[in-house]
Amino acid sequence: MVPHPLPARPETARPRGLRTDYCGELRAADAGRTVSVCGWVARRREHGEHLAFIDLRDHTGIVQCVVDGAHELRSEFVVRITGPLRLRPEGTANEALPTGEVEIGAEDVEVLNPAEPPPFGVDGRVDTEEPVRLRYRYVDLRSERMQHNLRIRAVVNAAIRRSMERQGLVEVETPLLWTPTPEGAREFAIPSRLQPGSFYVLPQSPQIAKQLLMVSGFDRYYQIARCMRDEDVRADRQFEFTQLDLEASFVRQEDIWEIATDSVLEATRDVAGEDPPAVVRMTWDEALDRYGTDKPDLRFGMELVRLEEVLASTSFNAFKAAAIRAIRVPAQADLGRGRLDSLTDRAKSLGAAGLVWLRVVAGEGAGAAAIESPVAKFLSPEEQAGILKATESEPGDLVLAVAGERKTTCRVLGQLRLDLGQPEISAKPYRYLWVTDFPLFEGVDEEGNPLAAHHPFTMPHPDDMDRLESDPLSVRSQSYDLVLNGWELGSGSIRIHRADIQRRIFAVLGISEQEAESRFGFLLGAFRYGAPPHGGFAYGIDRLVAILAGEENIREVIAFPKTQSGTDLMASSPRPIPERQLAELGIRIVRPAGLTD
Ligand code: AMO
Repeated sequence: MVPHPLPARPETARPRGLRTDYCGELRAADAGRTVSVCGWVARRREHGEHLAFIDLRDHTGIVQCVVDGAHELRSEFVVRITGPLRLRPEGTANEALPTGEVEIGAEDVEVLNPAEPPPFGVDGRVDTEEPVRLRYRYVDLRSERMQHNLRIRAVVNAAIRRSMERQGLVEVETPLLWTPTPEGAREFAIPSRLQPGSFYVLPQSPQIAKQLLMVSGFDRYYQIARCMRDEDVRADRQFEFTQLDLEASFVRQEDIWEIATDSVLEATRDVAGEDPPAVVRMTWDEALDRYGTDKPDLRFGMELVRLEEVLASTSFNAFKAAAIRAIRVPAQADLGRGRLDSLTDRAKSLGAAGLVWLRVVAGEGAGAAAIESPVAKFLSPEEQAGILKATESEPGDLVLAVAGERKTTCRVLGQLRLDLGQPEISAKPYRYLWVTDFPLFEGVDEEGNPLAAHHPFTMPHPDDMDRLESDPLSVRSQSYDLVLNGWELGSGSIRIHRADIQRRIFAVLGISEQEAESRFGFLLGAFRYGAPPHGGFAYGIDRLVAILAGEENIREVIAFPKTQSGTDLMASSPRPIPERQLAELGIRIVRPAGLTD
């Protein structure tokens, strides 16, 4: 079932041309009218020798037509049917169908185009394998699910545009034949015919272009932008995807959050019919501490609990660590040993030294609780009581604890929280959250230089500026993510607009002046001619639509997606191109070793 009905067809979008009505919109109140409908034969059922029931489908739904049995009508034939609309005979209404009270008594049946039997049924009653669906995507897209998903996508795009226009952002289109951008994924290169040996690069995002538009005085820009990244295709990643991309001048972070929030709420409201719960803000540090991730799923609790104070003077060696954190798993005390062992393996595979589990059982005295665990003997009664209190555990609960370095400890428990907490997800469907104050750098490269966590134009946090060279990994940035239900929806930052700060960042990153000049020269050049303070944001429209449509893979909300191996099974791309075209581009194919014709 689709999670949300589509908004009603506007009055102005009345049926035209060969039809008077859409199939799925006919109701009892229309009975008595002569109607013409067009569409595809969804189903044919014989009714005695002389009559057949045809379910005719268009994008609005299905209507039953009673036709002369002699007509040659098979599945997916394209037809136009004209006749009086009448109430179905007493007792034969189909309550499961919006048009179930009526039928068309066909007087004229025009086959507009016969069809071969489709490779699979459009009604979705039989599960069709993914490759077959993608190979015949034009048939797959006829299904109610795919029609709904792509139409929801259009509703989202329209809502985003409305919000952007309302807030005074100007839509500007930026080039697809472009040059390297700083997002860090592998790039798609396009050979130039006029300059053989030179290549365009498809943009990973309009990042540099939109910053230039700020230098040009556009003040507030947006674009529903196609982006291309040659990275592994996954449930939330495709080679080609679409961002709502925005940038604004003379603003603070809060302004960007407000502009972007307005647009996602507008889209959510238009699709879901109601406002989601208030959008929360949390620093990256707090998100890590409370949820063990930078993209917390707020649809359920089970927050991480700090046990450092309670176990400050423990004699249990496994708990002598920088960080000791726990989660309470409600009502799971009777999880079997096999399952607990597999949770331990999971924690180890995620980088923990081990996992401590504690079953909370009834203690002596009314309402008292006690701990059952292989490690209970190493914990003093005060420590045990402290753990129960800190985790707010009750008999019947399970407590899982990990000790070690802070980031790993939190991340491991954050993952276990997701593994064990998902089933609780219920009522509150769309939990938006801004995660702010991300670290400026994330890890180091082979040469020991810090790596930019977002991109090299991200403005450091003003309070941390003096540690830029001395302790770069502790420096926070003015960058932020928008998270929805545990998915990273988007990222953005306040940018560096001053040459002196930019030079310091490049130096810390180990990017030489020549390299900076060759990679981003035109941006740095533009900055010399009057760059206003500016910042921006971009979120993935594919991801937003997938969540709103209740899909787990963004492929289901993209008309013609690629498979995991990057293939379009319908259009057979990528594929070799003729020698003549290669020659024109000055390209000779060097066959990878082992590949034969
Ligand atoms: P970032 O690289 O975080 O930021 O991308 C922003 C959002 O785009 C979506 N996204 C993708 N969606 C589908 N498939 C992909 N391969 C893919 N890659 C990214 C995600 C992600 O959160 N220029 C900056 C934004 C800025 O600073 O203004 C940027 O592109 O939802």
